[in-house]
Amino acid sequence: TDRYAVIGNPIAHSRSPWIHSHFAKQLGLDLDYGRQLVPLDDFVGTVRAMQEAGYKGANVTVPFKQQAFELGDVHSDAVAFAKAANTLKFLPDGQIQTDNTDGMGLCRDLSDRLATKSLSLAEVQVVMVGAGGAASGCVSAFKQAGVKHLSILNRTADKAVELAQRATSIRLPAWGGGLLDFPGDLENIPVVLVNASSSSLKGEVPTLNERWYSGTVLAYDMMYAAQPTAFMRDIGPRLSSDALLSDGLGMLVHQAALSFEWWTGQRPDAVLTLNALRTILT
Ligand code: ATR
Repeated sequence: TDRYAVIGNPIAHSRSPWIHSHFAKQLGLDLDYGRQLVPLDDFVGTVRAMQEAGYKGANVTVPFKQQAFELGDVHSDAVAFAKAANTLKFLPDGQIQTDNTDGMGLCRDLSDRLATKSLSLAEVQVVMVGAGGAASGCVSAFKQAGVKHLSILNRTADKAVELAQRATSIRLPAWGGGLLDFPGDLENIPVVLVNASSSSLKGEVPTLNERWYSGTVLAYDMMYAAQPTAFMRDIGPRLSSDALLSDGLGMLVHQAALSFEWWTGQRPDAVLTLNALRTILT
């Protein structure tokens, strides 16, 4: 039985073991996926012990994604851009290969939702709120998915400008500014508005320049909950009546599916698992 685990601190409430078990059951694979609490001062020791114990890989969550990058030996483009990893593959020779599936997981869920409006990511601009770890983890995936333009809005504008410059350096057209700024000249491209800020953790909601709202076809919060999130409740009434609203549960399931496929070579049906998870979410 191949062993995997999600590692982080805190970890008790992680849905990943449930999700990966659901994938394994779908595909009839014999796979053991657990969860492990990592002491805040011993990420490296924990990973080395897992390698010793014969684990094949791990998912890494808060607050260790940067340390996962530093410990890794071979990185995907997404990891190299974000300098953060959420997936580790332990190779037989002791080396650690890393990936960051958060961004592509987000893009898969966005694509599924846009498809209901006969749109693809290549036809939209993404307006992303936040310029921290969660935001930078998605930039390389937006480039790969062919997003037309990325605007990054952040409470601290300088951080958005800097992240936008880095996006431009990988040839993704991008602009950065403050929450209330507007770059102009982008009015005719449908907007996918993504909340990648951690404001919801404090029950706060970012207020943006009005001009974003009329063009928004999909507003997406990376956070998820059994009930609509604060961001969804706040933004809903500002958008046109046919705009789509979503929380980030699909991103969670799709990033897991990408990790699962990278480890096992088999692709689970993420939407099947997402629908099942939604029904048990409390
Ligand atoms: P994460 O890994 O979740 O991205 P982070 O790297 O600490 O965490 O980044 C948090 C992001 O949420 C930042 O962009 C932060 O804005 P600042 O750069 O100005 O700090 C944003 N954020 C946090 N609280 C916010 C709030 N109440 N309103 C708007 N943005 C907020």
